[in-house]
Amino acid sequence: MAILRVNDLYKSFGGVKAVSNINISIEGGEIAGVIGPNGAGKTTFFNLLTGIYSPSSGEITYNIKKEIPSKNLKPHKMTSYGIARTFQNIRLFKNMSILDNVLIGYHNNLSYGVIPSLFRLPSYYKNEEKAYNEVLELLKIFNLSDKKDEVARNLPYGEQRKVEIARALAAKPKLLLLDEPAAGMNPNETKELTSLITWIKDEFDLTIILIEHDMSLVMGICSKVFVFNYGTLIASGTPDEIQNNPQVITAYLGGE
Ligand SMILES: Nc1ncnc2c1ncn2[C@@H]1O[C@H](COP(=O)(O)OP(=O)(O)O)[C@@H](O)[C@H]1O
Ligand SMILES: [Mg+2]
Repeated sequence: MAILRVNDLYKSFGGVKAVSNINISIEGGEIAGVIGPNGAGKTTFFNLLTGIYSPSSGEITYNIKKEIPSKNLKPHKMTSYGIARTFQNIRLFKNMSILDNVLIGYHNNLSYGVIPSLFRLPSYYKNEEKAYNEVLELLKIFNLSDKKDEVARNLPYGEQRKVEIARALAAKPKLLLLDEPAAGMNPNETKELTSLITWIKDEFDLTIILIEHDMSLVMGICSKVFVFNYGTLIASGTPDEIQNNPQVITAYLGGE
């Protein structure tokens, strides 16, 4: 069943059509890839999916939770709708520890109200302990346990990206959007991340949409690939179909 449908989606900034006539459907449980040259509209597409921009026209329909509105998505509500993301330009709290950065993701999901936290009632401490333990588990998955007390800015770029993915996962999403997760990673880190993405998809029962330039990652793990060029979708299909599509080779793959 489709977890996300996008119909005739448009977004323009002044005269620039950043996203134009996009029709896409994403099935639950798949890893979908979005590729295309710089400036093709990929990040804008994610920003539309997460309410950072509102569409100039068109519809975004999620089939995750009943209460997700069909219009006026609000970025701060996305995690409560079961949707979490990472950013192309990493957005960590650079002076906070890795542990605290990931805890923030967890707290996006917590449901103890203001009263227990104000008065430090037992439910507050119980939740805090649960959060802490779950975050430690996440850090283990990303091989970051021994760095939990380091401040984010001291980590190499590749590890900061992993912290951001861990933080997104801490919010317990059903749909995870990754904007260039392997950017800045060396080939070994990219290889490790590639298998990790498949593993977390199964382990956490996720649907994943990822924007990525690394073709070994995209072609290795995506079941469907969407190719953007100048804001429009020029092709979609399996990795095999995409790699043999003359239009895609001309617009993007040929120039790599
Ligand atoms: N907030 C904005 N204001 C004006 N133009 C924007 C804005 N965001 C994106 N754009 C433009 O939209 C186009 C697509 O950008 P982007 O979605 O970042 O591409 P990609 O992620 O594929 O590299 C570019 O021409 C970019 O300059
Ligand atoms: Mg981008």
